Amino acid sequence: MGDQPTKNVVWHKTSVTRAERAAIAGQKSAVLWFTGLSGSGKSTIANALEVRLNRAGKLTYLLDGDNVRLGLCADLGFSEPERRENNRRIAHVAKLLWDANVITLVSFISPFRTERETARKLIGVDFLEIFVDTPLGVCEMRDPKGLYVKARKGEIAQFTGITSPYEAPENPEITLHTDLESLEESVERIIALLAQRQYL
Ligand code: ADX
Repeated sequence: MGDQPTKNVVWHKTSVTRAERAAIAGQKSAVLWFTGLSGSGKSTIANALEVRLNRAGKLTYLLDGDNVRLGLCADLGFSEPERRENNRRIAHVAKLLWDANVITLVSFISPFRTERETARKLIGVDFLEIFVDTPLGVCEMRDPKGLYVKARKGEIAQFTGITSPYEAPENPEITLHTDLESLEESVERIIALLAQRQYL
């Protein structure tokens, strides 16, 4: 008792390398990390982008916050430590998918800057942070799941943007303004960045 759980665990190097997998996959992987308030449009944009990438013959996977919370993170609630743990797990799953040469789209609020920075360090240069910068008022007007109404009535505790903080990224690779640009324009801007960085 008291020892670090990983104290007696040693990294086991695999014989097949990431570069060898990349040669078979014929693509370069990245982690596209969408962050923003609930209702900001993260999942809508990530979905539309994934369709575009698939049509271009790219192997992708979309890790959606709500879906992950129904499985891998079903034991986690919305307190600050639980959101940090949610972020930590998703970052590691994203890294595994990236390592398997899959273009990985991650879509969940991820409200804490330090956790997102930890994910960036874990993944390295292939980590692309996409800030879906939709103002709270617009998200609240959209309220696609009726959650803001409930949060305002006090029926949901620790709701992001209302009673729980959202720390906006300081240096994201892209900032999207879904209240000012169309879905197609947002997707095009991400595609342009991916092409510029030679993922496409
Ligand atoms: S995160 O903060 O840990 O990154 P995540 O994206 O996984 O959040 O889950 C957010 C989703 O859970 C929201 O889109 C919403 O549907 C739902 N949800 C339920 N309770 C809350 C809450 N207190 N704050 C924010 N979202 C909530």
